[in-house]
Amino acid sequence: MTFFWSSWITILSIMCWAFILGILLMVLKYKPEVEDDGTTGHEYDGIREYDKALPKWWLVIFFGSIIWGVAYWVFFPGIFPSKWAGITTVEVDGKTLPWTSHNELNSELESNNKVFTDNFEKNILAKADASGATKSLASLSEMQATLRRSETPPADLQAKIDEKTAELAPYVEKLAENPNALKVGSRLFLQNCAVCHGSNAKGATGYPNLTDNDWLYGGEASNILTTLHKGRVGGMPAWRDQIGEDGVRAASEYVLSLSSDNGSKSNDELDKTLVTQGSAIFQQNCALCHGKDGKGMISAGAPNLTDNIWLYGGERETVRNTLRYGRAGVMPEWETKLGNERIMLLAAYIYSLSDKPAKATKVLPVNTTAPKAAAPAAVTAS
Ligand code: HEC
Ligand code: HEC
Repeated sequence: MTFFWSSWITILSIMCWAFILGILLMVLKYKPEVEDDGTTGHEYDGIREYDKALPKWWLVIFFGSIIWGVAYWVFFPGIFPSKWAGITTVEVDGKTLPWTSHNELNSELESNNKVFTDNFEKNILAKADASGATKSLASLSEMQATLRRSETPPADLQAKIDEKTAELAPYVEKLAENPNALKVGSRLFLQNCAVCHGSNAKGATGYPNLTDNDWLYGGEASNILTTLHKGRVGGMPAWRDQIGEDGVRAASEYVLSLSSDNGSKSNDELDKTLVTQGSAIFQQNCALCHGKDGKGMISAGAPNLTDNIWLYGGERETVRNTLRYGRAGVMPEWETKLGNERIMLLAAYIYSLSDKPAKATKVLPVNTTAPKAAAPAAVTAS
């Protein structure tokens, strides 16, 4: 707090306090002249005024609150707040800190979280036969706390955290078969994710559908965990400066040709010369991320361009715009906002939604009306 605001608060508090005390003392001392009949001689509308002492209970409350005011200054940072933090403390992250509304909030969030975590371990992990995760979760949160607290964390700490996170993947798969865990996961999804991915998780333009089996970053439990813990930023460069508008048109035509036999467009509508030119441009500039065959690469987050599933749209003009200006979809990180336990539940929910061709066990009904020809092969790095 700046010196100005600190002084401002201090002066106001003291003035207010002194004013009230002063008035009270003045009233107590004031002795009006009393007439023979015991009144002050003051009369209003037939009512005459006596000089009677203030009731004791009233005085007790009044003096009590004046003392309370002083006690408040001792306990909380109400006077010279830039110098005096008060003697009240709260526990945050294992440390005893002076009271501030911010610290109090954090402390309460922490204890609420503790209730959630205990409940998660007892009622969800244990019942889904996934108690093995408890140990990994404990050491994971310990490492995260070390990372948060230390200014120069050990170089390999982040790698160790990633390793621990990956250890949770098999338990996420178990949770994905537990109806209770999925219920909690679906609620968390509605609260945190539905704004972008839609309440049915089917996404929208720029926000991927999480119920198909088409993944930018991979659909294994470990991929989903990483996506949720760290967030993702799509990195499709802008191409107009590099390959020119003609290059953009050719490459777009080639992109369209990759998926045309899957969808509505027929090859006849495409400009064959442009497709051939585009093919060369593609191998030179795009294959690095999207793969030689255009089937995408989860390590680059580059989508499969052959399956007729579009993140930004498969219209000719949309594809051209994607190439001209690039794209950078942002998936926020959730580690610091939701914590490891809630992320496990969300990952399990997402994992359960996905329409995995190989696995027959699907707990929640999944609407499979999305236009999809033969189930697309899982996105692989080429
Ligand atoms: C602010 C909007 C936003 C919110 C909120 C959001 N996401 Fe995302 N999410 C995105 C975008 C955009 C992408 C695609 C990133 C890209 O284009 O590279 C994405 C990608 C993903 C992916 C990867 C999909 C793939 O194909 O690999 C998963 C999984 C995911 N989100 C799950 C979630 C979950 C679970 C939540 C809630 C905790 C959530 N998202 C909240 C915007 C959001
Ligand atoms: C550096 C890696 C990289 C290179 C090189 C690259 N892309 Fe991409 N591309 C991506 C990523 C990542 C996305 C997804 C962007 C997002 O999630 O926001 C993407 C998205 C796209 C899309 C949108 C697909 C959809 O579903 O809407 C098209 C089309 C595309 N790229 C075509 C190309 C073409 C053509 C080239 C070459 C001229 C190219 N890309 C080069 C990484 C790359």
